[in-house]
Amino acid sequence: MPSKHGGVRVRRHCGGPLLCGRRYGDFLAALHRAGELPGGPNPTRLTKALRMPPLPEMPLPITPISGLTQVTDDELNKFAELIYTRTGIRVSPQKKMLLSNRLRRRLRQTGIANFSEYYNHLRRLPSNDAEWDAFLQEITTHETYLFRDEAQWAWFRESYLSECAARAAHTKRTALRVWSAACSTGDEPFTIATCIAAELTNASQWRIRILGTDIGVGALEQAKSGVFGQRAMRLVPDDLRTRFFTKAKEGEIWQAKPILSQMIVFRQHNLLEPLREEPFDLVFLKNVLIYFDADSKRTVLNHVRAAIAPGGLLVAGAAEGVGDYLKDFNRLQPWLYRKPA
Ligand SMILES: C[S@@+](CC[C@H](N)C(=O)[O-])C[C@H]1O[C@@H](n2cnc3c(N)ncnc32)[C@H](O)[C@@H]1O
Repeated sequence: MPSKHGGVRVRRHCGGPLLCGRRYGDFLAALHRAGELPGGPNPTRLTKALRMPPLPEMPLPITPISGLTQVTDDELNKFAELIYTRTGIRVSPQKKMLLSNRLRRRLRQTGIANFSEYYNHLRRLPSNDAEWDAFLQEITTHETYLFRDEAQWAWFRESYLSECAARAAHTKRTALRVWSAACSTGDEPFTIATCIAAELTNASQWRIRILGTDIGVGALEQAKSGVFGQRAMRLVPDDLRTRFFTKAKEGEIWQAKPILSQMIVFRQHNLLEPLREEPFDLVFLKNVLIYFDADSKRTVLNHVRAAIAPGGLLVAGAAEGVGDYLKDFNRLQPWLYRKPA
């Protein structure tokens, strides 16, 4: 039977497994979570376990979807409105083909015959229904990797964390709260944790809380596994990779060590809603507002403003265009803003 876990489909077909996933680490983590394979959390054992004995041929239950090419303009508008209301993301008419391809995958999975029927189905579902998660997972962009935007991480390590350490020596304040908003598969919060573990010599004595949030449940499931593939790991400095990640003997995948995972808590959160948490010293909000229009940006940034402690900092994507909405903040870099103390 086909099954879907964290964006990974597993089909036992034609005498063996056919694995389709966005990246190698995804499907190992997802297979483990799904209990599809024996072997515990060790990626090496999982890799070995993938060499399964041939299975008898099983017919795939493919629902015939006839005459489906692209959404009509009317369907595009309806889906765009639904997506905008739910996420703040604007889908432009140029994305018609992309949206159609992504929706077609939901039609295949649900067995629903056409786009309009799927739209009506989705609208009738409560917002906490699993199909909403699957839909959002499909239509949002999850591209991310560790140490993305290297200049920002150089600043974080060499400037921000070394100042924290120096201040702690005088004030004995050894608490640090960081929010990675729209963290996708967790690459950003794990980068934050890696830098903290590297720079704060007695990190285990600090009260560190890194909160990773995203609207996508599938992305968060993968984030919790702390497993990353070669592509996601390519910018991690060699010394940090060796110290804080375990490499599988077979396959180019890395498992984050507990010293990193224990600093991070993941939970689902929609940026259009206020975050009910104690204020943060530092918030990362990167590569998400580029998909939002002015109104939804304003809503998000008002919530983010409230989530930052006085004197706290916001790290934004360089192309995020947040400056117009944060006139009361001090702009320290094109991507770095300080909330007045
Ligand atoms: C391109 S990823 C960015 C990941 C990471 N911040 C980075 O810069 O590498 C964008 C993420 O934003 C999330 N997202 C989109 N709309 C959202 C919303 N309204 N609330 C929370 N997350 C959202 C998507 O699910 C996706 O994982």
